[in-house]
Amino acid sequence: MHKHTSPRHGSFGLRADKEINQVIKIGIMDNRPTLSIKEIQNTIRQVGINPNYWYPVAWTDIFKKKDVIPVTIWNQNIVVYRTTNGHLNALEDACLHKGVELHKGEVQQDRIVCPYHGWEFDNTGSCVRIPYLQEGKKCPSARIRTFPVQERYQMVWLFPGNLTLAEQTPLPVVPEFDDPDWLMVKIPGHFMAHFSTCNENTMDVFHGHLHKGLQGWFDPELIKLDSHDSGVVAEYRVSYKGRLAKLLGLAKSAEETYQRTVSIEYAYPHYQNRMGELSSLYLMRLPVGPAETRSFSLMFLKPGIPSKFWQPYKEQLARLLWRFLLKRFLDQDKEMIESEQTTYNADPQARKIEINPAIMALRRVIYDQYQSHISATEATPEKRTARKDKS
Ligand code: FES
Ligand SMILES: [Fe+2]
Repeated sequence: MHKHTSPRHGSFGLRADKEINQVIKIGIMDNRPTLSIKEIQNTIRQVGINPNYWYPVAWTDIFKKKDVIPVTIWNQNIVVYRTTNGHLNALEDACLHKGVELHKGEVQQDRIVCPYHGWEFDNTGSCVRIPYLQEGKKCPSARIRTFPVQERYQMVWLFPGNLTLAEQTPLPVVPEFDDPDWLMVKIPGHFMAHFSTCNENTMDVFHGHLHKGLQGWFDPELIKLDSHDSGVVAEYRVSYKGRLAKLLGLAKSAEETYQRTVSIEYAYPHYQNRMGELSSLYLMRLPVGPAETRSFSLMFLKPGIPSKFWQPYKEQLARLLWRFLLKRFLDQDKEMIESEQTTYNADPQARKIEINPAIMALRRVIYDQYQSHISATEATPEKRTARKDKS
């Protein structure tokens, strides 16, 4: 995952709620001249993204069916298309001529062709052909905005921020992806809610109550919390019991209660959760707009038998796990997340009370990442000149 920078405070391993709250007050509500935790709580559902990270926009297998797909990152509409030589390109989804969405067009060799008047654009966003251009005339020199794009972990990733930062910004690292001992399950998510609400759901292990009918975890306890400018790491101790826990290798018998430690790492803007050597979840977040978010997750499990026995059936096994188990958990989460958004929409000022320090730390990171992007944008020479011109 992304490297953490400038730790705000060191890691600590505390159990008593009182002590953790004390550290949050000292460590997070420090003397920074930014908003307090309470003020952040009231504005967090309106913050934007820091675009200087790689965001997943689609599973790569969608290109088996189509050459051209429309995607949206934080209200920015983008067309992603695969050329006939196999390369993926990404352009702003608006024709230079009259703004028709280019995803309605088609790919011809290495170009995308607008459906309206047939203007053709190359991978630099330049117009390279207008079918009815008079002889001797040149195509307009303006270009459509392009976005860096790459394929990794069966996902298409885009970089919507400052072009000069794309190359030096790493993708999350997923070592299990190339390890045949892990069974990988792809989990798609779509929530009609702000990305902060979705991210809080992932950081919030105290909602085992919601999943009790599915034999989820119980008796959660926050045992460690560490926060940085670009992330939060929380460790929770949880208990498992029942047949499902036994099946997933979380408990040795269905009758006894077993305790496990879950580590949840938010490395802006994505997640990596781990339960020892038993499972890992990489949850990649795509903020689509102020009240719409997608996620592209990879869950890795270690079936309790040697991989040669299940490898031939891995696709079927992954599909079964998704359909009959993981989707049920996700559907319950989705209902809660969207319900929060409904209440928020009805009265954005209504006060809500959060008591989990890990959620407060998460909000601080989301807020600070947005603020640091806004400050950096405002400090660019062009903006300063523009402001001067206005006055
Ligand atoms: S709007 Fe695209 S070619 Fe005219
Ligand atoms: Fe959940």
